[in-house]
Amino acid sequence: MTDKYLPRYENKVIIVTGAGGGIGTAIAQRFAREGGQVVVTDSNAELANETTASIVAEGLKAVTMVADISSRDECYKLIADVEAQFGKIDVLINNAGINRRGPLMELSDEDWDLTMQVNVTSMFHLCRAAIPNMIKNGGAAIVNTASQWGLYPAPGHIAYNVSKAAVASFTQNLARDYAPHKIRVNGVCPGEIGTPMLQKAAERKGLTFADFDKMVPFGRIGRPDEVAALMAFLASEEAEFMCGSLVEITGAQPVA
Ligand SMILES: NC(=O)c1ccc[n+]([C@@H]2O[C@H](COP(=O)([O-])OP(=O)(O)OC[C@H]3O[C@@H](n4cnc5c(N)ncnc54)[C@H](O)[C@@H]3O)[C@@H](O)[C@H]2O)c1
Repeated sequence: MTDKYLPRYENKVIIVTGAGGGIGTAIAQRFAREGGQVVVTDSNAELANETTASIVAEGLKAVTMVADISSRDECYKLIADVEAQFGKIDVLINNAGINRRGPLMELSDEDWDLTMQVNVTSMFHLCRAAIPNMIKNGGAAIVNTASQWGLYPAPGHIAYNVSKAAVASFTQNLARDYAPHKIRVNGVCPGEIGTPMLQKAAERKGLTFADFDKMVPFGRIGRPDEVAALMAFLASEEAEFMCGSLVEITGAQPVA
């Protein structure tokens, strides 16, 4: 915990998937700064270790557990490893995602399948693996990273948009089914956030983040730490009555 932040996650165990990436790193750092024990997980060991090292360097608590969540077995192993090391899971942040672009006829079967595996099916397996532990402990919070494009599709990204629409529906379904167990499930729907994922999109179009800034009514794209702050609120006791919500964080940018 640091002075600037509330101690909302002291003695809590938080798993963050995709924690080597732009938004995931910020989420892991935020929960650690609020006193949490963070499990930094990503398929990219180097990126995950960088996130963990940044947290440990602040004197805060994080461990790396490498997992490729497109694999059912690795999802179950990840949760089993967290249970073995920490005994409980207070918060699961399903944040890892990939963006394979293209309209229907330009996508490969592999692009479609991998998008669904990483963005959607991983949540199915991770939640199935974690929920028995969460019920046993009397409740938990799950926050899923969907996307504004899952609600209002941008052209030329059918696999990504459909996967994120599925994340939104998965979030609402899980919330309805497990609210009686005090497992609160919510989703965030970011607009354009300055991360390596958006950087790739900008380079492909020959644009910079400054060009993207001009497209947002608020005057700039979002920052990863702003998504992390929303996640930290949604997973906290302050948001106790929020269950099944999908919260947009977009700077009022409409999908073009
Ligand atoms: N950046 C944006 O503008 C934006 C907007 C809306 C939603 N999102 C969503 O936010 C989430 C984070 O995106 P980001 O912008 O930080 O992207 P990013 O590419 O910077 O990070 C994604 C991370 O997920 C990891 N990952 C990918 N496949 C994995 C797998 N099979 N197993 C485990 N980890 C895997 C990557 O290694 C990477 O570290 C994603 O779900 C993305 O769809 C991002």
